[in-house]
Amino acid sequence: MKAKAQAPSNIALIKYWGKYDKKLRIPANSSISFNLSEAFTTTSVEFDEKFESDTFIFNGKKAKPAETERVSKHLNLLRNMSKIKHFAKVESRNNFPSSSGIASSASGFAALTLAASSSLGLTLSEKRLSILARLGSGSACRSIPDGFVEWKAGKKSEDSFAHSLYPADFWDICDLVAVTEKGSKKIGSTEGHFLAQSSPFYKERILGMDKKIKETKSALKNKDFTKLGELTEAEAVSMHSVMMTSTPALFYWTPKTLEIMKSVVDWRSKGLETYFTIDAGPNVHIICQSKDVKLLRSKLEGIKGIKDVLINRVSNGAKLLK
Ligand code: DP6
Repeated sequence: MKAKAQAPSNIALIKYWGKYDKKLRIPANSSISFNLSEAFTTTSVEFDEKFESDTFIFNGKKAKPAETERVSKHLNLLRNMSKIKHFAKVESRNNFPSSSGIASSASGFAALTLAASSSLGLTLSEKRLSILARLGSGSACRSIPDGFVEWKAGKKSEDSFAHSLYPADFWDICDLVAVTEKGSKKIGSTEGHFLAQSSPFYKERILGMDKKIKETKSALKNKDFTKLGELTEAEAVSMHSVMMTSTPALFYWTPKTLEIMKSVVDWRSKGLETYFTIDAGPNVHIICQSKDVKLLRSKLEGIKGIKDVLINRVSNGAKLLK
């Protein structure tokens, strides 16, 4: 009873910040993302009667108790759906720096859900896998389907899951991640979501979400890169405005983050069409068309203090490995 799965992280163009139901991780609004080809988690899960507890090895090391507990809780959901009640050994590895604004919980819980359910002999639909992944970490539900993905918020657990809008090869746009810090962030997204409602701008933001989702879907459909980029960049600033005006205030940007944001705007004014987006961390995701990757990469490498540049194409979602 062992299975292995790989799942990508994803970058949200329209983001999830604030929950309608905290326990069930039902978001306050729908979101749109694409899967990242070079930022993924590979997880193997083995259930065996000889194990006396769940163990979780992350990037080669025994995970912290709180992390193991979150994994165990997730395994319980799946064990409850199966006849097998044994403990499990979970081994997980990210190929990118964790906890720094690249959504490692997204790829992590998507891979865990697929590996664990398969190891338990459960054959689940994409919808079911997405719902289960969401219960581990909201954005993980978007790492199950392929390519460009929409997570419809819903109001009950059964209605809150992600589906593919377009396959990975629909449009060859890229996400270059400028990694400025590799350490863990102080306030993770789970805690951050709880603070969102304390911002005076939160309600306004949620009210405008349906329109944004509609416009983003239309930009995708028409492969209108300018429109998609403008929506993406404005959306990231809107989410960070809520973060910065919550109580306590959350500042994920560093001076380096701002330097990169300003550079992107400057390059754009000179003809290199790129747009930034930023999650709950200091790293900057820069969306561009594949024809501009080389030039953009060399521009980013010219900025002092960028530790790494990850170049992602749009990829498929979670898959089982042999
Ligand atoms: C800023 O999915 O990490 O990346 O459901 O509490 O695990 P939990 O939160 P999480 O939140 C992601 C927040 C974000 C925006 C996004 O990816 O939509």
